[in-house]
Order: sequence, then C-alpha cells, then structure tokens
Amino acid sequence: MTVTDLFRLDDVRALITGASRGIGAAIAQAFAESGARVALAARTERATEDVAGRIGRSCGTEAHRVAGDLADPEVAPRLVDQAAHALGGLDVLVHNAGVLPTDPQGNPVLKPFARSTPEEWQPVVAVNLAATVALCRAAHRHLLESPRPSVLLVSSVAGLIGVPTMEAYGVTKAAQVSLARSLATGWAPQRIRVNALCPGWVRTDMTSVVHGDEALSGHLLRHVPMRRWADPGEVAGSAVFLTSPAASFITGQALVIDGGLSVPHGGLADLAAGPPDGM
Ligand SMILES: NC(=O)c1ccc[n+]([C@@H]2O[C@H](COP(=O)([O-])OP(=O)(O)OC[C@H]3O[C@@H](n4cnc5c(N)ncnc54)[C@H](OP(=O)(O)O)[C@@H]3O)[C@@H](O)[C@H]2O)c1
Repeated sequence: MTVTDLFRLDDVRALITGASRGIGAAIAQAFAESGARVALAARTERATEDVAGRIGRSCGTEAHRVAGDLADPEVAPRLVDQAAHALGGLDVLVHNAGVLPTDPQGNPVLKPFARSTPEEWQPVVAVNLAATVALCRAAHRHLLESPRPSVLLVSSVAGLIGVPTMEAYGVTKAAQVSLARSLATGWAPQRIRVNALCPGWVRTDMTSVVHGDEALSGHLLRHVPMRRWADPGEVAGSAVFLTSPAASFITGQALVIDGGLSVPHGGLADLAAGPPDGM
C-alpha cells in the first residue's frame, strides 16, 4: 500500500448523518470520492436527493438514503439498521447532524444562560447528545463485524472553550468529545476506533445569521488568528483522514479545525496587527 492509498476509503461502508447540506454533505462527497459507499441521513429523504445525485454523477456510485428525525429516540437504531442493510454492513459511522437552540421560526436563539429555557435545551440535548449515544449503541454490533470499524463524531470547538449564550450547544459538544474518549478506550480491544472533529466557524446554513451579518462576522473573526471562515470542504478532509488507514493508530482524539481560534493567546493575538503605540 502506498502512502496515498492509506488515505483512501475504498469499499468502506459509511453512514453519515446530517448529510443533506453543510459539513455533512461535504463529508459525504469526500467519502464517495475516496472510494467509500455511503448512506446519507437527514430528516427527509427528499433532503439528500441533490447530494446523492451529485455523488452519482461525479463518482458513479449509488448513495443510499435513509431518513428520520434524530430528536425522536426511536429513529437512531432504525437509521443504523437501514444503512447497514442497504450497504451490506457498516464500517464507519459519522454522526454529523447537530443543532443550535432555535425559536419556533427556526432562527438560532443565543441568549444569556440564566434566561435560557428547558424547551430551548431539550432538542439540542436530544439531537446532539441522546442521538449520539443511540447511534453509537446501535452501530456497535455492526462495527464488530467490520474489518476496519470506526466512529467519527462531529463535535465543535464550542465543546472545548467557553462560549457564553451557547451553553446548551457547548455542553452537548463537550459530551461528544467525552463519549469519543470513553468509547475509544472501551472499544479498543474490539479494534473500533472512535474520534471527534472540533470545527470552529464554518460557513453553512447553521451559521448564516452570523456570516450573513458583516459587523457580527467581523467581530467574531477578530478572534480567529486566520481571520476567515472555513468552507465545509476544509472539515471533510479531516473526516476522511480520521476514518482512513492513515489514522489506523489514532483513537480517542478530538481534532480541532478552527483557524487557530482555540489556541491560547492570552489576549495577545491582536499584536499580529502590529504592536500598540508605546510598545
Ligand atoms: N457550521 C459551523 O460553524 C460548525 C462549527 C462547529 C461544529 N459544527 C457541527 O457540524 C455539524 C454540521 O453542522 P452544519 O453547520 O453543516 O449544519 P447545517 O448546515 O445546519 O446542517 C445540519 C444537518 O443536520 C441535519 N439535521 C438537523 N436536525 C436534525 C434532526 N433533528 N434529525 C436529523 N438530522 C438533522 C440537517 O438535515 P435536514 O436536511 O433534515 O435539516 C442537516 O443535514 C453539526 O453537528 C454542528 O454542530 C458546525
């Protein structure tokens, strides 16, 4: 096997949740281009039609589609079993679907913790945490049958740093990192690798209220040393890497993809623009 072969996913059977758009769609496309056979999950089958069509045209492989609302506790095991049935087994679970708290119109709700409500926390805990647990639990028996099993949880840098007004989101994302570490340790004797990805600011529908607001976006990017948003494709490469043979001895890790946002800088990042007057 050459070093470039190590980064391929030939014939890997992968379920990718949240594959209708954003980071999940980019991961699905990258997996298919790397040789994987994919099952795409979103709330409706219609939602993954375009991504499946693109994969079919560009890679010549059929992308299977499964659907269900992961806020419903009965959906995760059904999606896993349907994907495993369609693919003839399961080698990789990528749980990428995730949500922020939203208002009834679907707009993100970012407000002080003390004013946050149980109704706002509940769907975030259901999709980002409870569904993660249920998907991993359901995938386990299929992964035991796989020659190269692994799990990848799309967490967030918000699970590693303090993000006021995003506590519900941050707590669930931190829990995904914790679960990845515990499962990696517990499942290592069964050869199942479990890792997490922690993206920073990525330009998707989820963050449109921020990247669509020039002033707010500019304010946030002041704290990103690379001073820009990531494109979803910049997360997808790391997803391929962590589930490929190139990462065969990597487990229990949280790979941060954030343009330097979480690098501790003690408030000195602004010095890059030049020392303040008098220094
Ligand atoms: N964008 C960022 O800056 C950023 C940063 C760090 C981490 N992340 C994480 O990356 C992941 C993907 O984020 P994104 O920005 O690509 O989000 P996005 O554009 O909002 O897409 C979310 C995906 O999750 C699916 N989804 C949402 N709620 C669901 C539910 N209840 N049941 C099943 N599927 C559901 C959506 O499918 P439908 O078609 O059914 O809506 C869609 O495919 C999330 O876990 C997010 O927390 C994002």
